[in-house]
Amino acid sequence: MAQQDDLFKKIVSHCKEYGFVFQSSEIYDGLSAVYDYGQNGVELKNNIKRYWWEGMTLLHNNIVGIDSAIFMHPTIWKASGHVDAFNDPLIDNRDSKKRYRADVLIEDHLAKYDEKIEKEVAKARKRFGDSFDEALFRQTNPRILENAQKRDAIHERFAKALNDNNLEELRQIIIDCEIVCPISGTRNWTDVRQFNLMFKTEMGSTADGAMTIYLRPETAQGIFVNYLNVQKTGRMRLPFGIAQIGKAFRNEIVARQFIFRMREFEQMEMQFFVRPGEELKWFEHWKQTRLRWHKALGLGDHKYRFHDHDKLAHYANAATDIEFEMPFGFKEVEGIHSRTNFDLSQHEKYSGKKIQYFDPEINESYVPYVIETSIGVDRMFLSVLSAAYEEQPLDGGEVRAVLHLPPALAPVKCAVMPLVRKDGLPEKALEIVNDLKFDFTTHYEEKDSIGKRYRRQDAIGTPYCVTVDHQTLEDNTVTLRERDSMEQTRVNVDELRSIVNERVSLNALLRRLG
Ligand code: GAP
Repeated sequence: MAQQDDLFKKIVSHCKEYGFVFQSSEIYDGLSAVYDYGQNGVELKNNIKRYWWEGMTLLHNNIVGIDSAIFMHPTIWKASGHVDAFNDPLIDNRDSKKRYRADVLIEDHLAKYDEKIEKEVAKARKRFGDSFDEALFRQTNPRILENAQKRDAIHERFAKALNDNNLEELRQIIIDCEIVCPISGTRNWTDVRQFNLMFKTEMGSTADGAMTIYLRPETAQGIFVNYLNVQKTGRMRLPFGIAQIGKAFRNEIVARQFIFRMREFEQMEMQFFVRPGEELKWFEHWKQTRLRWHKALGLGDHKYRFHDHDKLAHYANAATDIEFEMPFGFKEVEGIHSRTNFDLSQHEKYSGKKIQYFDPEINESYVPYVIETSIGVDRMFLSVLSAAYEEQPLDGGEVRAVLHLPPALAPVKCAVMPLVRKDGLPEKALEIVNDLKFDFTTHYEEKDSIGKRYRRQDAIGTPYCVTVDHQTLEDNTVTLRERDSMEQTRVNVDELRSIVNERVSLNALLRRLG
């Protein structure tokens, strides 16, 4: 665990050192749980967004995009249930005066049982070597069975308390499990209270005439309230989807783990409208489609798992998360929800406008059901970066920090470097940059030794470096160095575009999705 903490700290400082992520308002000592993306971060983030957007709108001719406003009529949030039910259960420790999410305290406690079980398995694997029968060991080892039994009993109570919205029982679980405050080490807990996560602001010029509005906590409602506009103007027939990328805001109380839980973040959401009764079939479809999208990046199939929700949101009849193995354990990156016809029906009720679809195949009008796929751009960014980061020992004792980013997502695709800053080499290198820059992001680098320049490009995940030397002027060939293998080959300048493009283009990645 300490090793993982250490790795996470290194990733956070790497993000800052190489212009990926900065603390917001840093020169004013920062603003908690708000972050800015730097020169390399914004490119990586934009590439993630393009991969998602094109994966949705290019590859599906029944999915279209929109870009709705952040400010929306306040009644939308009443209709959606967010005003009344978008809450976190909070508990305070009286000694440290620290505030926690009661559900997170219990989830962390549950995770400790899993850690104990995995430790037992790892110890036994070491002891028994090749003859180790892991499945049998898990089924029969008394300590594993005892820990699993304790975990399951707490989990059952926890799931019931969440579903019943039973705040007293949540507190009782914390007391019974002897969970202590990580700061004070005491069990001096207050009652559990609900806290609404929406930010409020005012619209209008005078205090009297001002209207309280909310910063949207999800982009989805902008899609629901535009359902009719898009369906009618796009002459869309069910099933069809509407995709949107945009900022969302939540007043997270326990904001931690860097860009994993932020107060201002970005979502990529797609609402897929289907015929009632067909929603669970489409829910399965989108679970598999979204997992394929993640796995196509090649970060490691074993790093993903589904996690079905214990407590369904007020609008859902099925929900699962796609979790990714971050340095601090498996964590939610994307949610896939079967939202029934809850949102559209609510907007029908609160707006007084009919939101129905006439289905010519069955000659019936109905309020469509919805499958939602909702992924956080920032969490996706963190998962890509965590999987890509390596401190790789090299011959001679040197260690290189390298980001093995999927080439299509890398901020810079190719760096062109003159071996020396004279003899016409910079001019030739710039000529190559000026030719390649129309196809992919190409940087020119001339400062420091070639070795140092390679290291800098490795650290930002540039898949290819091109070195221009004296031979280039004679035969128009350059050295092409590949980031992961560090292999160098001599290629003709005229071949560069197609070699690099084949590996770094988004097109190649999208083709893997079929
Ligand atoms: N429209 C459904 C919805 O918003 P959600 O599970 O609350 O569902 C969807 O959020 C995704 O948004 C999450 O899987 C996560 O990736 C991202 N997300 C949610 N809260 C976040 C936060 N505070 N900081 C960063 N990302 C967040």
